[in-house]
Amino acid sequence: MSIFNVDQESCKRDGICAKECPVGIIELLDKDSFPSPMERAEENCIQCGHCMAVCPHGALTLTNRSFEEFPLVKRDLLPSSEVVKNFLTSRRSIRRYKKNVMSHELLEDLIDIGRYAPTGSNKQQVYWTVFEKPSEVRRLVPLVIDWAELMAQKIPDQAIAQRMKSLVLAWDRGEDAILRGAPHLIVVHSQGDLPSAHADCVISLTYLELYAASKGLGTCWAGYFTAAANVFPPLREALGLPEGHRCFGAVMLGYPQYKYYRRPKRNAPLVTWR
Ligand SMILES: Cc1cc2nc3c(=O)[nH]c(=O)nc-3n(C[C@H](O)[C@H](O)[C@H](O)COP(=O)(O)O)c2cc1C
Repeated sequence: MSIFNVDQESCKRDGICAKECPVGIIELLDKDSFPSPMERAEENCIQCGHCMAVCPHGALTLTNRSFEEFPLVKRDLLPSSEVVKNFLTSRRSIRRYKKNVMSHELLEDLIDIGRYAPTGSNKQQVYWTVFEKPSEVRRLVPLVIDWAELMAQKIPDQAIAQRMKSLVLAWDRGEDAILRGAPHLIVVHSQGDLPSAHADCVISLTYLELYAASKGLGTCWAGYFTAAANVFPPLREALGLPEGHRCFGAVMLGYPQYKYYRRPKRNAPLVTWR
């Protein structure tokens, strides 16, 4: 059975599917031929669906896929670049959260959008662990504090040691400088030996973070938590990561207590023009 079917009535033989296939497994033998799979197409296809999605005539269907799985792009709903620019330059890290918890459906909705991030070779091996209950999030913080205390004793770099000490001192004063009292935490992880795992996870979580901001939610990347997650066994155990997985990122999440009225000031970009 062929890896894709071509409706010869609607196919215009324009070759767009072949040109857009990222792994080059579609060919049109001459200007009168219809697209056909090249040798070993099946094993090389990455199931990205570009061929189906780019055909203006809906003439090509992957054998194991249906058009329902590729809904039409709603062009009239796409934001203008001005809107996107305003949005991207307004997002801030949120470190004070309301006590309200988000609904399970809302958390699911955020994760659903995380799936649309690109992944190396379309592997889609991004795993999400969602700490939905605030009590579960709170349970993690003292473990990161234990790690920070250990780091402060062990590492020679004074600056890092001082920072770790300040986290512990804050904790002793009753402040959570690790997860900032956020009601939820979303952690991304994947197989440690998958070449694109780090980028895949970080991009997916960034999609989620930006979508959350568009819904008026607050997020903040949990860098200390992520650093501890892979090296401190008690935290790793509490996270329950599968064997061979690494944690590549985590964001705190909840309803922000305060609004930001101004955009951030950023340094000039560090660019080399060639
Ligand atoms: C990878 C990464 C890790 C971070 N870790 C922490 C963290 O552990 N705690 C925290 O309060 N903020 C953390 N942040 C937030 C940064 O401090 C913040 O993005 C930066 O100061 C710029 O502020 P803005 O995000 O509001 O524009 C982290 C950000 C990134 C990208």
